[in-house]
Amino acid sequence: MKALVCENKTLKLEELVEPPAPEPGEVRVRVVSATVNPTDRDMLTGSYDLFLKLLGPGGRLKTGLEFAGIVEKAGGRYRKGERIFGYTNLMKGPKTHQQVLNVKEKYTAAIPDGLSFEQAASIAIAGNSGLVLIDDIAKLSAGHHVLINGASGGVGAFALQLAKKRGSRVAAIAGRGQEEYLTRLGADDVFDYTRQTVETLQGKFDAILDFSTLLKFRQVRHLLTEAGIFIPADPLKNLFDIVASPLRKHKTRYFLVDEGSAGKLSQAAALVAEGGIKAEIDSRFSLKDYQEAFGRLDRKGRRGRIVLDMQDTAT
Ligand SMILES: NC(=O)c1ccc[n+]([C@@H]2O[C@H](COP(=O)([O-])OP(=O)(O)OC[C@H]3O[C@@H](n4cnc5c(N)ncnc54)[C@H](OP(=O)(O)O)[C@@H]3O)[C@@H](O)[C@H]2O)c1
Repeated sequence: MKALVCENKTLKLEELVEPPAPEPGEVRVRVVSATVNPTDRDMLTGSYDLFLKLLGPGGRLKTGLEFAGIVEKAGGRYRKGERIFGYTNLMKGPKTHQQVLNVKEKYTAAIPDGLSFEQAASIAIAGNSGLVLIDDIAKLSAGHHVLINGASGGVGAFALQLAKKRGSRVAAIAGRGQEEYLTRLGADDVFDYTRQTVETLQGKFDAILDFSTLLKFRQVRHLLTEAGIFIPADPLKNLFDIVASPLRKHKTRYFLVDEGSAGKLSQAAALVAEGGIKAEIDSRFSLKDYQEAFGRLDRKGRRGRIVLDMQDTAT
């Protein structure tokens, strides 16, 4: 099988031996689509090396968190040939930039009719994260007001649409030229972070979600309602505010989607299949063009996810 391997912080496409037979509780998948996320770049540049050393499986496969593909071997709750999708644990899981993958079943769900492999791959983490953030942590419903910083990216685009679906009013922040796009996704108000700082916004919000991973609690506490909560996407960069939260009126909430949830994956897929939410795909690349796909990560103004066609390796 072909896979992206990491050597000296550089990626290479190599021919590797397929993984051994799956362990109990795992499913073996031929990967059709995978995504390229900011976290993959962080993996490559070594930001997580210490954690990987302590927790990870080691090895040269370091990139790829989401996938969609075809079950290769019957077992567990799947038939051979079934279409499934999912994600893997950031530190401990296998990586999805390989053509054959053994992954824990609890990190997977069936792809419903009407959803393509690339759509399914693009919502695995975004859908799961959106449901945890909007329904479980922020508990948004009609009458609530939410501010989403970084609303044009992979997770933000899903969270924005879900918050609207739950009846909340959404203010969305993204870069230049995204107003029409975010309005189409349902945003009630759109702000351009290159023209206005978050500190100068008006209004009060029941929840503030930050996908830029740049915001600090002190910048936004004045924008929160009495019971308002701030939820940063990177808990590691906000540990102090999370720990200090019980002593404060306004809360900063811990958010980490590292455990598999087949139920949430199924729920996210159903929302897209039924047409309530769009799986936003920024761009598509063949596996052989992985360098362009990773290059796209460095460009501002992406809309949704970057998707890799994992079976297209012809030169
Ligand atoms: N804790 C968890 O379990 C969990 C789960 C999922 C994701 N995450 C994290 O969440 C973050 C977002 O993920 P993603 O996949 O959605 O990333 P993404 O697709 O790169 O989206 C990031 C968004 O932030 C925007 N942005 C960049 N600089 C900004 C600024 N100064 N002010 C406001 N917005 C800004 C980007 O817009 P421009 O392109 O226009 O700059 C883009 O809309 C990542 O760091 C990821 O690791 C955490």
